[in-house]
Amino acid sequence: MTETTVRERVFSGIQPSGASHLGNYLGAQVNYVALQDQYEAIYGIVDYHALTSVHEGEQMRRLTHEMVLDLLAVGLDPDHCALIRQSDLPEHAELAWIFNTCVPVSWVERTPTYKEKRDEGVENSMGLLDYPVLQAADIVIYKASRVPIGKDQAAHLELSREIVRAFNRRYGPIFPEPQAVFTDAPVVLGTDGVRKMSKSAGNTIPIFADPDEIRRIVQKMVTDPQRIKRTDPGRPEVCNVCQLHRFFGEDYLQIQDGERTARTGCVETKELLAERIIERFRPMRVRREELAADPGHVERVLAAGAAKVRPILEATMREVREATGIGRPAGTTS
Ligand code: TRP
Repeated sequence: MTETTVRERVFSGIQPSGASHLGNYLGAQVNYVALQDQYEAIYGIVDYHALTSVHEGEQMRRLTHEMVLDLLAVGLDPDHCALIRQSDLPEHAELAWIFNTCVPVSWVERTPTYKEKRDEGVENSMGLLDYPVLQAADIVIYKASRVPIGKDQAAHLELSREIVRAFNRRYGPIFPEPQAVFTDAPVVLGTDGVRKMSKSAGNTIPIFADPDEIRRIVQKMVTDPQRIKRTDPGRPEVCNVCQLHRFFGEDYLQIQDGERTARTGCVETKELLAERIIERFRPMRVRREELAADPGHVERVLAAGAAKVRPILEATMREVREATGIGRPAGTTS
């Protein structure tokens, strides 16, 4: 971030919600790694957001620590981006409060993710309702102009833009409207072959699980339900094992053809997929183990990240306090 040329700033938030899986990796993390060299990138482990679902202190600490290790292992480089823990910078929550006073309740009540999570049984707390307002604060406290997100977050970004407009209407043009950068990564389906890979659906392939665990999970994946006998032709377009092969070798069309013509069976196609997944993540797993062996490393990375972004956020908060009239007037001392 010490460039002389001004690069656009990106921000994205990652919930510390559990072991990274293939869907997280292909859908988001690969993209974070690519963007860190093109942009001034800030990535936040959003533990305040996670409080809406993680309700045990030790678990929150562990999940946060693990997520930092995962992100470093897949290639985020603290010299090329800022990796922060949201709660190390409590101004995120302060700005969210200020935004709360500009946001009509009806805007957050109609957010699709709120309704979904509530209906899934996530505790219907004020925090759950307010989740997208905090997300808006995360982004614009750094005046980030671009936000790499999945399509599922589109409504949140739209709301962030509305919130910015509402604040700016009241107090003047302080914040830029952030833009979503959608990854063209396809939606990765889970081991059930029907639903999107996600922790809550229980259909994930964790990328840092040990090899035997990965073999076991892949071997149990649901394939083409109409292919009963080994000699039946398969339909690679409905078989998620075949679909996942796309990401693990140039020869995926031959592999799919093998299934279509029943030249190969599901068991061997799964074995090959498992070995390729293990192979792809092997160097990252080794790296992760090295990093984990140094007990202070994660906290040093987070401290450096916070130090790097603090001046940006403080400048923004000075403007916000000035415009809203809260806090000690500029130029006065205690
Ligand atoms: N809501 C996002 C998710 O669940 C996480 C998030 C929090 C985020 N703050 C953000 C994403 C800011 C982008 C920008 O994936």
